[in-house]
Amino acid sequence: MDTLTAPAIRVRKVRDGADPLVMVTAYDAPSARVVNEAGADLILVGDSVAMVVLGYDDTLQVTVDDMAHHVAAVARTRPDAHIVGDLPWMSYHVSASRTVRNAAQLIRAGAHSVKLEGGRKRLPMIERICGAEIPVMGHIGLTPQSVHAMGGFKVQGRKAEAARRLVQAAKSLAHAGCYAIVLEGVPVQVAEMVTEAIEVPTIGIGAGPHCDGQVLVYHDLLGFEQRLAPKFVRRYADLHAAATEAVRRFSDDVRSGAFPALEESYHLSEAELAALGVAGV
Ligand code: KIV
Repeated sequence: MDTLTAPAIRVRKVRDGADPLVMVTAYDAPSARVVNEAGADLILVGDSVAMVVLGYDDTLQVTVDDMAHHVAAVARTRPDAHIVGDLPWMSYHVSASRTVRNAAQLIRAGAHSVKLEGGRKRLPMIERICGAEIPVMGHIGLTPQSVHAMGGFKVQGRKAEAARRLVQAAKSLAHAGCYAIVLEGVPVQVAEMVTEAIEVPTIGIGAGPHCDGQVLVYHDLLGFEQRLAPKFVRRYADLHAAATEAVRRFSDDVRSGAFPALEESYHLSEAELAALGVAGV
């Protein structure tokens, strides 16, 4: 199968009969293989890596170099899924030339497109990145890189005026060239309004069922992340418990001498044992 391209994703509107898009985050080769083999359409190498892998309390701590490192690990698995590289905080806020260079670094690391957070104030940067022939995915609503400006990780667009602003922002982003837009942490009705208002697909997280696709964080979906349980996360497995139990059984076996068994060990041949003058085990 060929890699799903940004132009192919751009036309995936559910109202036009398309199947909903499936996007899951991955940050390294094993998680990328799982997500790709499970048939997801897109792999997001998200800056959520800061929280679910690197142990930070927010996403503000990762750099372009960090993101490129994780994008490259995912890209080495050569998935069919489209790889989206997340531009981290401060990588698209300073100047257009630095923004384009940062986006290019993620593309050179193996991403097929980049994602950035924010509404209309991002339009000039989106246009510059698209002008460098790099497809851009937008991200509006609850934008985790704005955690301090928003006063926490809070649902956005709850008031009529804020909801209208989100619809306008989505239209502007699509007009500026975004091939898809993530809608995070917004009421169901707002996500539906946005999805109806634009020609490119919306991919929701905490935005209800009316988007053109859904995204979840790998560690949330698989139950590795136990610290936070946002309302919108559905856990399809409890791999934290399964992994803890497996390591506990290994520990017990080491301490009792049950691991390793002789069948799990390497042995000298009879001839070499004889040469050494020792009896075989
Ligand atoms: O970094 C990330 O995982 C994201 C998703 C929550 C959309 O941006």
